[in-house]
Amino acid sequence: MLVPMHELLKDAEKGKYAIPACNFCNLETMYPILEAAKELHAPIILQAAASEIYYFGEDLMTGCVKAVADRMGLTVALHLDHGRDYEEAIKCLRRGFTSVMFDGSELPYEKNLAITRNIVQAAHAVGISVEGELGKIMGAEDAAFLESEEDELTDPEGAAVFARETGVDALAIAIGTAHGFYKKEPKLDFDRLQKVRELTHHLPIVLHGGTGIPEESVKKAVALGIRKINFSTIIRADFIETFRSFSTENPEEYGLMTISQIAMRKVKEAIVHCIELLGCNGKT
Ligand code: 13P
Repeated sequence: MLVPMHELLKDAEKGKYAIPACNFCNLETMYPILEAAKELHAPIILQAAASEIYYFGEDLMTGCVKAVADRMGLTVALHLDHGRDYEEAIKCLRRGFTSVMFDGSELPYEKNLAITRNIVQAAHAVGISVEGELGKIMGAEDAAFLESEEDELTDPEGAAVFARETGVDALAIAIGTAHGFYKKEPKLDFDRLQKVRELTHHLPIVLHGGTGIPEESVKKAVALGIRKINFSTIIRADFIETFRSFSTENPEEYGLMTISQIAMRKVKEAIVHCIELLGCNGKT
């Protein structure tokens, strides 16, 4: 069953755990994510950015996710990751997504707030959740140099106004994480996270750049109110590396299904680990 993301986040808030939000672009990445959730009786968020939706097939994604989730007896939210504009969000509402993100973090604060508010109005009218973003979540390359510049991080007072004025169901914040592989260990600004949570009256907070955050930091972030953590690089890297090394070691093997299944097993193991780390196993 597909459910609005805020329903899953509401339970996560009550149970004080977080839910992995996993990027996928094809059936080979979708299946192992759902299988891990099924095995551990965990809620799960499947998410895709515009390029991933396009690659999968814009008209196919929702139907496929729903069919497989129903067959597996799973409760899943399907979320647009890093939506770039109002039109993209509306397209996803029409496609049957149950949550959309608008990433206006590159825009001036007022413009980000105005567009996010419009998307919230449209999405809430049909019961769909919205994630906003405030502060700049960098790529790992930038993070290595910038060491999370103060002014790139989310301002807690600004976050409070943003949350109140837009009505978002969840807020992605910048506290020192980055997308991609970290060049050096990320240092998370937990005080900032705590402040944002206080001032937003315990709004579910989202952490992007889940791949490679030290486990102790993940646990602490969840204890302080992170309710959704995004994982993308680890899924692609585990799939590709497993596929590549098996093919290299077995150059005569042309069984696409054989090699794909080995790679999918590796992705499933990674998601099982994420679910356990975030503490959402056994929550459905
Ligand atoms: P990683 O690629 O670092 O796992 O981050 C994923 C993400 O935040 C997608 O929005």
